[in-house]
Amino acid sequence: MTTEYNEFGQLTIRGHEVQSLVKDYGTPLIIYDEDHLVSMMDKYHSVFKHHQVPYSISYASKAFSSIQMIKLLKSRNMELDVVSIGELYTALQAGFPAQDIHFHGNNKTPYEIDYALKNGVRFFIIDALDEISLIDGLAEDLEEDDAVNVLIRINPSVEVNTHEYISTGQEDSKFGLSLSNGAAKKAIDLIKRSQHLNFKGIHYHLGSQLADSQPFINAISNVFAWLDQENIDIDILNMGGGYGVKYTEDDVRFPIETGFDDILNHLKKVLKQSNRNMPHLMIEPGRSITAEAAITVYEVGTIKDIPGVSKYISIDGGMSDHIRTPLYGADYEVIPVELNEDSTSLPSHVVGKLCESGDVIGKNKMLPEDIKRGDLLAVKTTGAYHYSMASNYNQMQKPAVIFVSDNGVRQVIKRQSLEQLIENDIR
Ligand code: LLP
Repeated sequence: MTTEYNEFGQLTIRGHEVQSLVKDYGTPLIIYDEDHLVSMMDKYHSVFKHHQVPYSISYASKAFSSIQMIKLLKSRNMELDVVSIGELYTALQAGFPAQDIHFHGNNKTPYEIDYALKNGVRFFIIDALDEISLIDGLAEDLEEDDAVNVLIRINPSVEVNTHEYISTGQEDSKFGLSLSNGAAKKAIDLIKRSQHLNFKGIHYHLGSQLADSQPFINAISNVFAWLDQENIDIDILNMGGGYGVKYTEDDVRFPIETGFDDILNHLKKVLKQSNRNMPHLMIEPGRSITAEAAITVYEVGTIKDIPGVSKYISIDGGMSDHIRTPLYGADYEVIPVELNEDSTSLPSHVVGKLCESGDVIGKNKMLPEDIKRGDLLAVKTTGAYHYSMASNYNQMQKPAVIFVSDNGVRQVIKRQSLEQLIENDIR
């Protein structure tokens, strides 16, 4: 993302002064660099094109979804993962083609499955054994030759180094079918015996915020050893998402080009050993496309200085739009929107305005000593799992979202209104 201070000490994103964007759209404000989003989508395409393999990039819409985001994905030839009727509805409302949508989730309800089928979705990732008869039964009304393509989500038992809450590929998990206890093999047998389901291949998602290719390489070895042992052919291999981003200087960003060089070269080697053709490859990046594309801008309110102890800077948002720090202890960079070269910096705690001691955005952030009410602060790398995880706790309104680019500025989501907060309440 292109954030930099201009000659007047004003923070800019893609050349647009943050302060003037705030004048137009208020705070808290999530600002995406649209050109960055596009460049990330294009980067994934170019890696797979370079390797000349059949592929699709299926964006995990849980990271950030909105009508304009979905339209942008469509314009860049992306496919889409959804995990709920709500994500599906958003995609369909944006005009995203149903045939490019993949339905995920460890507990798809009959209602959701039926809705997806009726709206043309023909691609499901099976997460549990009982889902097979459920989807097969609901597909009964489809045209004879209109089979539903399915992958099974397996647990390749690969250790990953990430937060326990976002680690998913291990045996003891609510997600997926186990290779070792026979559930995955049983699922394939059931699918092959079903009326309307077409077994297409394997899916796994190892976890999120992974910094290197090693877990993906290990997964390929484990999965093909199992496929060989069970004598199973696949048309599609879906390696999931989880490619890490740089929240702070301490984080290692997953190296997309070299990382996929390693993964794809290993895959080619393994395929050769097992005498198989290259399957259609899928990946499901979410965070790596959106996280570093956005900042959230807040206005400073109360400042509480406890001499010799701590300084608390309160902002006009908090865990309602920034849950990742309270939930995962995630660390972020917090920077002033206006730079004053003469002022010294002090460690300060940046906290939200919600009634919860854990409503912390960042601890001991180096911020100007003379920071005052009305100043603006920007939290970087807030493009993934921020708006999409926002809540109305304390009846906080969800923030506005804008896209900026070399071509200009456009609003993509309006700030939630007070009226909307109670629109479903019976008066
Ligand atoms: N595919 C599947 C099946 C997934 O479960 C996920 C994320 C992804 C793809 C995308 O992963 P990504 O590339 O975005 O890391 N709320 C947490 C993240 C939960 C991720 C859940 N699944 C966070 O804020 O870190």
